[in-house]
Amino acid sequence: MKIAIFGTGYVGLVTGACLAQVGHNVCCVDVDKDKVASLRAGVIPIYEPGLKDVVEHAVAEGRLSFTTDAREAVDHGEVIFIAVGTPPDEDGSADLRYVLAVGKTVAEHMQDYRLVVTKSTVPVGTADKVKSAMTEVLEARAATIAFDVASNPEFLKEGAAVSDFMKPDRIVVGTDSPRVEKLMRELYAPFNRNHDKLIFTDVRSSELTKYAANALLATKISFMNELANIAEKVGADIEQVRQGIGSDPRIGYHFIYPGCGYGGSCFPKDVKALVKTAEDLSYAPQLLSAVDAVNDRQKERLFQKLRIRFGDDLTGKTIALWGLAFKPNTDDMREAPSRTLMEALWAAGAKVRAFDPEALHEAERLYGDRDDLQLCSSAFEVLDGADALVICTEWQQFRSPDFAEIKQRLTHAVIVDGRNLYDPALMAEKGIEYFSIGRGR
Ligand code: UDX
Repeated sequence: MKIAIFGTGYVGLVTGACLAQVGHNVCCVDVDKDKVASLRAGVIPIYEPGLKDVVEHAVAEGRLSFTTDAREAVDHGEVIFIAVGTPPDEDGSADLRYVLAVGKTVAEHMQDYRLVVTKSTVPVGTADKVKSAMTEVLEARAATIAFDVASNPEFLKEGAAVSDFMKPDRIVVGTDSPRVEKLMRELYAPFNRNHDKLIFTDVRSSELTKYAANALLATKISFMNELANIAEKVGADIEQVRQGIGSDPRIGYHFIYPGCGYGGSCFPKDVKALVKTAEDLSYAPQLLSAVDAVNDRQKERLFQKLRIRFGDDLTGKTIALWGLAFKPNTDDMREAPSRTLMEALWAAGAKVRAFDPEALHEAERLYGDRDDLQLCSSAFEVLDGADALVICTEWQQFRSPDFAEIKQRLTHAVIVDGRNLYDPALMAEKGIEYFSIGRGR
């Protein structure tokens, strides 16, 4: 099938590359000339395992192309995905300017039937808005051309996006049109071999499904973080509690890891946007607001633990940081707990030495002009002369470090672990003052 994708960001690029990989002919369009030029030269702007290979292969086979020419993309694709950004407004609602602009562009250029599919995470009602925007443009053109607008949210995890796309748990499509159902079945047939993963819903339910999935996952995390804080007070161990509850299949082991708060481009933004949507409709969503507030508070925990150990005034202190990305296997620092911690440390007069296996260039971009941040290219180098080590991201390589070397390099043998990577009893045995989440202190 011939497909066009508007937006070569994270979602658009993964979607385009994976659809081309299974044999579709995909044209990706972006307004950013530099981005399109570098994609044409084979440079992938994000770190995502497997993506480079898929892009290179599909480009070499002639099934994936990049352009800045919207008309060319509209001519090319019978199915057109909207995968442009929806940055949050100041009040937390999603800014739909770019999504609606794509709808209008399609309506300006289309000569015959087009199916427009919203892939970006968009508030409930957006597909209807795209439809109205397109109708207006077509009326102005005095053109009567049939089109449909459907919703097809993505459920991609950063760091596993290619495999999530190639082996989906489910493919949700919101539409009320049999024509759309037929087209989407054909499009997704290569991913739908063994059992039917396609779930057709009405458009608004599909749009809400995406928010519901992310909000429930965020709720599980905030719930565990809240319980971890209670566990510290009552003298229980949250890791033992986690195993005790996870074994109940109704609860399950997934997404109940306590930590220093969730980050990334989805959970914080989507929970806030859903709160906003509800409030705009005069419904006060108490649970979702609490999920968000608990997460904000959790991101402060590592800093609080340092203050418990070193006192309120951290002037002259140097803190070593392992992990800047919001989670392992990505270089993404959006809403990362490491940022909340670093900003609090700087405000309290401390200096930071930080290491991350993939996100150093992103940290350089965000904070490169600061003289109270030293970015180091090895995990052990950050420890030299630091008063404590804090772990913000659970990269594999941090799981079993040489503790003797850590002790020797740090000024004080203090580890504050935001991901519960180590056994508190082992740390005590090794003479390390160990702070973690929901396990004593
Ligand atoms: C998420 C959803 O998983 C994905 O389906 C959706 O499409 C986009 O949002 P992503 O943001 O890439 O994906 O990351 P994810 O792996 O879900 O982790 C999100 C955050 O939650 C991370 O900061 C992670 O550290 C945190 N987390 C996750 C926990 O603190 N505890 C857990 O048990 C799981």
